[in-house]
Amino acid sequence: MTGKLKFARAALVAAVVAVASAGAVGTAEARTPPPSTNIVGGSLASTAQAPWAIALNNSRSPVPSGQYCGATLVKANKLVTAAHCVTQPISTYTAIQGRDNLNTTTGKTSKISKIWKDPQYGQVGGHDVAVLTLTTPFTGVATLPLETSRAADAVGAQSTVYGWGDTEGTGPADRFQKVLVPVLGDSYCGQVYASEGYVANGEICAGYKQGGKDSCQGDSGGPLVLNGRLFGVVSWGIGCADAGNPGVYAEVATYATALQTQINS
Ligand code: ARG
Repeated sequence: MTGKLKFARAALVAAVVAVASAGAVGTAEARTPPPSTNIVGGSLASTAQAPWAIALNNSRSPVPSGQYCGATLVKANKLVTAAHCVTQPISTYTAIQGRDNLNTTTGKTSKISKIWKDPQYGQVGGHDVAVLTLTTPFTGVATLPLETSRAADAVGAQSTVYGWGDTEGTGPADRFQKVLVPVLGDSYCGQVYASEGYVANGEICAGYKQGGKDSCQGDSGGPLVLNGRLFGVVSWGIGCADAGNPGVYAEVATYATALQTQINS
């Protein structure tokens, strides 16, 4: 099965048709159901150590905990997430801060009052970014600054991805996890994902050529962190942690100006 899996959890319940439209760059339509499988090959993390990591739950999620996507707190009342995570009605979302286990009630929650989705998302490749405004700001919680230099996307950079998504059985469900994913570089993903339309200026290729460790379904929208900055946003991959199919992340530096305008608004 091939196909660029770029859909959040709720799309898993829809009887998605596998449309072999490779080459339709930038589209987020689900083509194949994902493997039934958070972060693959990672380890348990703590929101006390990563307070800016936000669980973006949705009442339409197929999983009982409501787990749907991730996001990053970039201002007391602003989150950065993936454009493909904001396809549901605004009232169905809940942002959760400081909850390591989604089957508990610890931490802060907020509804969403405004969604900004990159207007070029789906028109051209890349642009899988969105900014959400919280109805109840997470005041006093540490935020993550945006990476603004495209030079950060250098082969071998040691970035870490966080999320509550699928583990493919490599860990407990609904638990906050992290995994180190080195940057593999635009030329590698340009080759392995040529037919999926990998976008060098707007996407980051990170993970392991041999597979084993990766982000996965439900991690979308969550943070890829490098040097204490929001470097990437979990976007897509073919399968999870499979050899030759690394994770693809929206490149925050490419979209930093547009994102910062929304964050400041
Ligand atoms: N599109 C997925 C989501 O909505 C994220 C996929 C990431 N896949 C990967 N192999 N790194 O949750």
